[in-house]
Amino acid sequence: SYFMKILIIANRLPVKIERTDDSFIVKRSEGGLATGLGSLEIDAEMHWVGWPGIHVENEDEKREITEKLAALNYHPVFLTGEEIETYYEGYSNSTIWPLCHYFFSYVQYKAEYWEAYRRVNGLFCEEALNFIDDNDIVWIHDYQLMLLPKKIRDNRPNVMIGYFHHIPFPSYELFRVLPEREEVLKGLLGADLIGFHTHDYMRHFISAVYRVLDLNCNLDEICLQDRIVHVDAFPMGINYEQYHQATSLPEVKKISKRLIEELGDQTIILSVDRLDYSKGILHRLEGFANFLENHPEYHKKVSLAMIVVPSRDAVERYADLKTQIDQSIGKINGIYSTLGWTPVYYFYQSFPFNELVALYDIADIALVTPLRDGMNLVAKEYLATKNRKPGVLILSEMAGAANELTDAIIINPNDTQEIESALLQALTMPGKEQRLRLRNMQKRISTQTVRKWANDFIAELLHINRQNNEIF
Ligand code: UDP
Ligand code: G6P
Repeated sequence: SYFMKILIIANRLPVKIERTDDSFIVKRSEGGLATGLGSLEIDAEMHWVGWPGIHVENEDEKREITEKLAALNYHPVFLTGEEIETYYEGYSNSTIWPLCHYFFSYVQYKAEYWEAYRRVNGLFCEEALNFIDDNDIVWIHDYQLMLLPKKIRDNRPNVMIGYFHHIPFPSYELFRVLPEREEVLKGLLGADLIGFHTHDYMRHFISAVYRVLDLNCNLDEICLQDRIVHVDAFPMGINYEQYHQATSLPEVKKISKRLIEELGDQTIILSVDRLDYSKGILHRLEGFANFLENHPEYHKKVSLAMIVVPSRDAVERYADLKTQIDQSIGKINGIYSTLGWTPVYYFYQSFPFNELVALYDIADIALVTPLRDGMNLVAKEYLATKNRKPGVLILSEMAGAANELTDAIIINPNDTQEIESALLQALTMPGKEQRLRLRNMQKRISTQTVRKWANDFIAELLHINRQNNEIF
């Protein structure tokens, strides 16, 4: 191998800045893209361009943050309040996000959202150009930056450009409703390689390109006049060893021990997600409520520990969902609680790594019920952490991860009866079967790691580049 420099561009950096009384602190970001990319270890010089997750307007403060991040090779793009509202909360999370997750009726069309999306993609481009030399690799991530591949190519025709889409790509019939469909697709086609988590997302994308842009397409290639754009599926993994070793960290052991003491011999069902309508949180609660209603023999024996990480709370749909979740949990606990038993433990907060893995460690069942999810790394993290005792994964077939984790109990989250019977199956599953299923799934995720995912993507990008140099 030879010396490589990779510039990663994503809306969110692997860390976020938070304000304290007199300064700023650096914290780990939540969300699959940031946690996954943040744990990458590959043989290349890596730089990052992205938003530091905080709103600052003061130039001295911006300088302070920029210096703090430069030490990590992270280069911040600062957004104004207006840009956060229209580009981030607006076009990214009120137009594209619901569209790609099949929440059609949630999609908002506003001219100022689109205008801001274009403008901010331009800002990211300007910032990124400062760090790009010829022969570098530029790797752009996710739906917030779909116009960026073309913008980079227009400025730096000789660099290799990859794009990875971390969320589902919807079927053409859905995508076609987007007024800006043409410009969005043309933006993406600035890349040499476009990656998705699954073959289905990839097929949907190619069919959208074929129908919207009327281009010549094969199974995994799109032919432009002067070059070929390659499309492929790369299911993202996790840093397996980091999770698998975690339960032997003294700090994690201490937390696990404390949790076990506090919970006694209760069986714990765990769920972990950002507060997002795509995650099926209300469906999960309904399934659990039905389970309690129909299975009184499990009262006082089973609790649901639900971690809901605050996310995009300025977006109306997210704020509404928060209210509904609070109500639903209040209702369940109101009906079934006793002095010594709480059916749903609810945490509306973000957990640091050590506490999160301690919860994975002690949980008997993980209940992962998204209505749509690009991949879902939480499911993989839960399985990877398991080594002290086994556990059962219940997983929605609507998560990208379901393609790989076929030894989970697979459910359709729209069928609350199915959630109920999956819970019963998990609670009564013999230890031997638990271990067998776990071993099969661990075998897969311990080889398909995030490092392999990144290396596969970059290797294919380099291969395409060599081919292009021979042909054109
Ligand atoms: N996560 C975290 N802190 C928490 C809860 C979750 O850092 O308190 C992380 C979790 O470890 C996982 C990510 O957030 O890596 C969620 O990724 P996933 O792919 O499951 O869903 P996404 O949020 O990307 O839709
Ligand atoms: C998903 C998206 C990421 C995003 C993350 C957290 O994983 O694919 O692009 O970073 O959610 O959302 P946020 O809006 O807080 O960045």
